[in-house]
This record gives sequence, C-alpha cells and structure tokens, in this order.
Amino acid sequence: MTLKKQSILVAGGGSTFTPGIIMMLLENLEIFPIRQIKFYDNDEERQKQIADAVEIVLKERAPEIEFLATTDPETAFTDIDFVMAHIRVGKYAMREQDEKIPLKYGVIGQETCGPGGISYGMRSIGGVLELIDYMEQYSPNAWMLNYSNPAAIVAEATRKLRPNSKIINICDMPVGIEHRMAEILGLKSRKEMTVRYYGLNHFGWWTDIRDKDGNDLMPAIKKHVAEHGYVTPGELEGTPGEDIEPSWMHTYGKAKETFALDPNTLPNTYLKYYLFPQDEAEKANPEYTRANEVMDHREKQVFSECNRIANIKTAEDAKLVTDDHASYIVDLARAIAYNTRERMLLIVPNNGAIANFDPTAMVEIPCIVGSNGPEMINQGEIPRFQKGLMEQQVAVEKLVVEAWEEESYQKLWQALTVSKIVPNARVARQILDDLIVANKGYWPELK
Ligand code: NAD
Ligand code: G6P
Ligand code: MN
Repeated sequence: MTLKKQSILVAGGGSTFTPGIIMMLLENLEIFPIRQIKFYDNDEERQKQIADAVEIVLKERAPEIEFLATTDPETAFTDIDFVMAHIRVGKYAMREQDEKIPLKYGVIGQETCGPGGISYGMRSIGGVLELIDYMEQYSPNAWMLNYSNPAAIVAEATRKLRPNSKIINICDMPVGIEHRMAEILGLKSRKEMTVRYYGLNHFGWWTDIRDKDGNDLMPAIKKHVAEHGYVTPGELEGTPGEDIEPSWMHTYGKAKETFALDPNTLPNTYLKYYLFPQDEAEKANPEYTRANEVMDHREKQVFSECNRIANIKTAEDAKLVTDDHASYIVDLARAIAYNTRERMLLIVPNNGAIANFDPTAMVEIPCIVGSNGPEMINQGEIPRFQKGLMEQQVAVEKLVVEAWEEESYQKLWQALTVSKIVPNARVARQILDDLIVANKGYWPELK
C-alpha cells in the first residue's frame, strides 16, 4: 500500500534546529513521504535566512515537495497534517535574561529548570496556545507535535486550557540519553532497548531497560554510570563521535552523582539542577551563560551556513547536518499518520498511569502511539523519594499556569518559592521583581 503523502508546517521556521529537522525529514521520505513543507515564524527576517537555504536544498534533493515560508497564519496553517512546533518566545536575548537574572542572587538560571524555566514558561504559554488556535481554525484535523520549551509548563497549560486539542508534547533528552546507554552497551541502536520510565519532563528516572529477548540491561549501564555518568566509552578514550560542548560533557559526567542518590534507577541529566543547585550556580559564569554559548556557536554556525548556501545558490556541499536524535519526531508523526503503534516516551496526562501520583499532572512515561494518539502504559507505584520531589515540582508547574491564567503576582511568587532551586521566599521575590521588568511585553501584566 502506498503511504499517504503528508503536509508539514514547521512553526518556528527561524529556529536553529530547522535545517537539521529538514535534513532528517529528507532522509526519511521513504517511510514518511511529504508533499508540502511550510515554515511559519513571527520574525520574517530571521526565518527568511533559513528558508532561502532550505528552498535550495529542497529544489536540489526533493523538487517534488512544495515549499513556502510565511508569517501569515492563514497561509501557514491551511491544508496541514502536522505542525512541528519549536518556537522560542523572546528568542536568545530573553533566554540570556532568564539565565543571568537568577545568577545575580546566586541562583542557577537555566532554560527550562527553576526561575529561568518559570520565566520562559510565562512567555511560551501564550505563544503555543496561539499556534494551537491557528491550527484548529485552519486545519482542524491536524496534530501538533510540540517540542517548544519549557515543555513541562507548556504541557500543563495545554492540558488545562486546551483540553481537547490534538497536541502531543515531547522531549529529546531521554532519546539522547538512551542513545548514550546504547553506546555504553555496545548496541547498534537505542531501539534495541525497551524501557520503563516515569517522571515529569526534564525530571525523570528509568526503572527497567531490556533487550528484545528480555535480558536485563540495567546492571551493565548502572556499572558504567556509577563510574562515569553518561560519558560514553568513546568519549572517555578521547575519541568523541560528535562535537560536544564542554557544558554538556559536564552534564553527562554529573549524572554519576545524581545516580548515587538512588542506585535502583537511572536518572535524567536535568535532575542535577534540582539536586545540586548550589554546585551548578557556583560553576556558572554570570557574564557568560549557555545562551551566550549557543549564540556564539550553534546560532552563528547555522545562520552563516544558510547565508552561504543562499549566496552561492547551491547546497551541493552544504554543511547542514541531520539531527539524528530528531528522528523521534518522524517516529511520532508516522505513528499517528500510519498507525505504527510505536512505543515512545511522551508528556501526557497521568490519569492513573503512575498509581500514587496526581492524576491531573502531566507526566513523562512510555506510551503506545497510533492514529488515535497515545495510550499510556502503567508504571505502577513510585517510591517516596521520587514522589516527594515530583510533587514539589508539579506544584511549581501548576502554579505557573495558574499565575499566567489569573495574571497573579502572588501565585508566581509562590511558584518560585516552591521551586527546589530557589533558596527562600525573599530571594524568590527579588528574582520575580527583576523578571517582571525584563519580561515587559512578553508576560501578562501581573496583579
Ligand atoms: P531559536 O530562537 O533559534 O528559534 C525559535 C524561533 O521561534 C525563532 O525564529 C523565533 O522568531 C520564533 N518565534 C518566537 N516566538 C514565536 C511565535 N509566537 N510565533 C512564531 N514563531 C515564534 O531557538 P532554538 O534554540 O532553535 O530552539 C527552538 C525551541 O525548541 C526552543 O523552545 C527550545 O527550547 C526547543 N527545543 C526543545 C527540545 C526538546 O527536547 N523538547 C529540544 C531542542 C530544542
Ligand atoms: C535538550 C533538551 C531540550 C533543550 C536543549 C537545550 O535537548 O531536551 O529541551 O532545549 O537540550 O539545548 P541548548 O543547546 O539550546 O542549550
Ligand atoms: Mn527537552
């Protein structure tokens, strides 16, 4: 049977990840055929630089695919099967503020965790809801695959404020870590592993990892993580496969310390911000944070390469590389389009899947995905250590969404205070007052 060809909208066409996603889609056309790709962004000039290069790539490599880039919602969202959403409301300039303002008070500033993530959440909620509303107006049968951050807060907002919308929130961090686990084990692909996992986004644990024959792979991975974290054997030998930035190497190494807290499970790397916040704050340079690193490296590389391609009008020697990890997006789209019943980790309403946890929480757990969307796989009861941490963190995420909806200063102050990363309510208030000034025009006006 021939597969129906899909029409894709990339929302956040100007993202640094867009060229990698396009290259990844092109590599997967046989299993996920495409008739049309559109880009949508609210920054015309930024998007145009990426779009001009992608247009040349598509003309040379897949001329049958129709392509257009627009800032007009109706043109963008009409006749679409999947919206792949990766917007960053406020762009890197605001990410820099999210990271640097908390550091003024000795508190770690991070894209998705703690005060930085809360600040970004207050900007993202409105942006993502707007995309959903356009999608429902112009292509009511479409699905949105959202990886715009902070995914945990965005997911809670969509659960609460757009409960019937066809949106699935997903993260690539577990995929990236599983890729490393497969390397540690010497497996060809992470897909040889079947995992059990539970948590919130950027806040979870693997509890069981098996190969296709049911052999338990956890002991071998744990042995490695106890010594080296998720730094791979190749990296330890000094032959890294990819060009990994120092901040990420630190993160993979730090997983060793996080693992020590509960050797029954394997942790997500982001837990380091919650379990060792002072270490991270001390290590940070308040003048030069991850946003600066990304602006100096990824953003410069991607835009200069796109501009080069547009100038020479050919992509024959393009240095736009496929983002391997991003193929999870095709797995998800294929699962919905062709009912493949793929097993994947998604951010979904708990509804009892974690038996002893808030049924209204958005949790990250394995699901079977088919044309009707995800079916959650029960993870049973979780231990008190994880439950305690998750209850505190889910309260933060819910308070942020309530604060956004009710335009409530009080609730946002409470959210910051509950965050494990913020030392006390006074510091929470100082950070909040600075964030309000920095986010003028992006956040609702708080009462
Ligand atoms: P980026 O700033 O390069 O790109 C984001 C784009 O979104 C920009 O071109 C910007 O103009 C556009 N944009 C902002 N607000 C918009 C709006 N309201 N409507 C339409 N377009 C809008 O950022 P990036 O570093 O490439 O990251 C993009 C997003 O993907 C971020 O949210 C990032 O956190 C997320 N991300 C998520 C995962 C995951 O695992 N979930 C992985 C990687 C990146
Ligand atoms: C991982 C996370 C994403 C996050 C990204 C940050 O991939 O899963 O949610 O956006 O890291 O990467 P960056 O390179 O922008 O710091
Ligand atoms: Mn993520």
